[in-house]
Amino acid sequence: MTKEMPWVTGASRVFGTIAHPPHHVRAPMLFNALFAERGLDNIMVPIDAPPADLAAVIAGLRKMPNFGGLAVTIPHKIALADMCDSLGAVAKITGAVNAIRFDPDGSMHGDNFDGEGFVTGLALKGHSVAGKTILMIGAGGAARAIAAAVCAAGAEKLIIVNRTVKNADALRNALVKEGNHHQSIAQDSHDGSGVDIIINTTSLGLKPGDDLPLALDHVDDNTLIADIIMIPEQTAWLLAAEQRGLATHYGRHMLDCQIELIGSFIGAL
Ligand code: ATR
Repeated sequence: MTKEMPWVTGASRVFGTIAHPPHHVRAPMLFNALFAERGLDNIMVPIDAPPADLAAVIAGLRKMPNFGGLAVTIPHKIALADMCDSLGAVAKITGAVNAIRFDPDGSMHGDNFDGEGFVTGLALKGHSVAGKTILMIGAGGAARAIAAAVCAAGAEKLIIVNRTVKNADALRNALVKEGNHHQSIAQDSHDGSGVDIIINTTSLGLKPGDDLPLALDHVDDNTLIADIIMIPEQTAWLLAAEQRGLATHYGRHMLDCQIELIGSFIGAL
């Protein structure tokens, strides 16, 4: 894939990746390379939106006639779902968006492709979730989408562990109510043993010195360790897993496998 920047003109359509902080985002690199490769007169820029100013940032973007849409990441996936004028099916189940199209009238339309991207990314690396016992750490916006997707793809059991256990409970209830998925349980802790796949969906690992999302001492030797953090590509947790000889799955695959889906939804590709 080319790394050349797209040629930006006064007529270029502007897209954003909204985050806080924004340093960990990868979408601008992927989208701008595709814009250049395909000769599309678009540009994607990182948008740093502190949570307290999110509404003001969005109000401004809604007023920009040349603004096309957003890729959405930590910590805005849930807050932005509430600001959308309409939601697609997965965004409704999850209450979280990772892509928003801005129409010319300023209306916002959101959906969520994280789950599909994650499950497809695993499958491309030869890992199926069907029939598996999965331990998911975290219950935020990305977690909701991944939980719905792994349940829909036939996971036997999904154990959701989160710092704030009421958020894990809420996710479990949403999976039952909105998705008719009954294989999940919510817990406040787990030692990591006896499961096939462990997925980190928390933000732990973004910053140097973060705690590990889960200690690996009791994890079985054949358990797959999957992270969804993209930068750093190899989180401290993945490194620790590899040093222990465990198989790992990197966060970039989830995004790589949904760029076309997001791009088509927001009208960028
Ligand atoms: P995203 O939209 O990308 O999923 P999010 O909705 O802010 O981001 O979710 C972040 C997840 O990381 C949540 O599960 C959060 O736990 P809480 O529900 O308790 O907030 C988890 N998380 C963030 N910081 C954490 C920390 N220091 N320790 C443990 N979990 C953490």
